[in-house]
Formats: sequence, structure tokens, C-alpha cells
Amino acid sequence: MLFPPIDDEAETVRAALKPLRNRIRVALFSFGNPFAIGAAIRVSHSFLVDEILIVGDAPFYEKASMGMEKYETIVRLADESELLRHCAGRPLWAVEKVAAATNLYGVAEIPDDVVFVFGSERYGIPADFLAQCTQTVALPMFGVNNSFPVAITVGMVLGEWGRRRYRPGTTL
Ligand SMILES: C[S@@+](CC[C@H](N)C(=O)[O-])C[C@H]1O[C@@H](n2cnc3c(N)ncnc32)[C@H](O)[C@@H]1O
Repeated sequence: MLFPPIDDEAETVRAALKPLRNRIRVALFSFGNPFAIGAAIRVSHSFLVDEILIVGDAPFYEKASMGMEKYETIVRLADESELLRHCAGRPLWAVEKVAAATNLYGVAEIPDDVVFVFGSERYGIPADFLAQCTQTVALPMFGVNNSFPVAITVGMVLGEWGRRRYRPGTTL
């Protein structure tokens, strides 16, 4: 069992976490809801992703990220083309319900260097960017709403990834 040195400097904690990190990345379109981006950072930290990529310069609330941004590599990217450049060679999986051909639970395999891309609360993922993604996956919904809050979606997607990656149930 690892006990993170949480009373230490952020750099010390980051160094302790480095060998435990997973190769996956989370990319977020930032416009529209600073609380959502903060919460998405917080949940991404719990899966020790490689990087959190934020497209756009909208702020996020540290109240929502609960300080976890200190331990993560957060890369700010000006626009979609910078995101594409930054992730060149990696599979880009857009997570977006309406445009999806399949749902995440049905895919045979999730690549270990996947970049999961999430849209903004207000506008979703831009259509021209969706066209450049490797594939688009949805999470099934069972109520009457059109979409989940984006931070919840990040948690559900990473939860499915982790369930497969650490099968049969090992945790760090
Ligand atoms: C609140 S939704 C955006 C809704 C936006 N108004 C639209 O019309 O596209 C925010 C983001 O959460 C993710 N999301 C929410 N529900 C989802 C679902 N059921 N399947 C896949 N992605 C979902 C997507 O990445 C989406 O862009």
C-alpha cells in the first residue's frame, strides 16, 4: 500500500506518483463551466492519467479541483489544432453521445495510449474536431436527459477504462 506524502511539497508528491501513472490522457474543451473543468481535473487525478489537456483559456475553479491540479500535468492548448499536434500518433477517442456509432461498454479494446476527448458543458465537442477523431463513443443513458454533466462523464469513462485495465479488480 502506498501512502502518498501529502504533507510534502507538490513536487515531492508528483515524483512519488510518477511511476504509478497510466498512459491515458484526458482532453477537455473548456468553454462554459469552470466548475465542470475543476471537477474533471479532480476525478482525472484519481486515475493518475498521464496528462490533462485543456483546450482554451477559460479558468477552472480550484474549489472544484480541490487542489489536485498541483499533482497533475495540465497542458493548456490554444485550440483544436494544438490539441491535434500535441496528441499526434495517439488514438483520439471523442466521448460524445449524439455523434457516436458505438457505446464505450461495447468496444472490444481500449488502447493504452488513448486520449479521451470531452466537450464543453455548453457546446459539446466541435463538429470539425469530431471528424478528426479516431472514433466517437457514447455512454448509454437511461433517463430522460440528453447528456450527463461532463465531469461525471469523465469519471464514468475512466471507471470503465480502469475496470478493464486492472481486471480482475486490482487497485493501486
Ligand atoms: C453536457 S454535455 C454537452 C451537451 C451540449 N449541450 C451538446 O449539445 O452537445 C458535455 C460533454 O459531456 C460528455 N457527455 C455527456 N453525456 C454523455 C453521454 N451520454 N455519452 C458520451 N458523452 C457524454 C460529452 O463529452 C459532452 O460534450
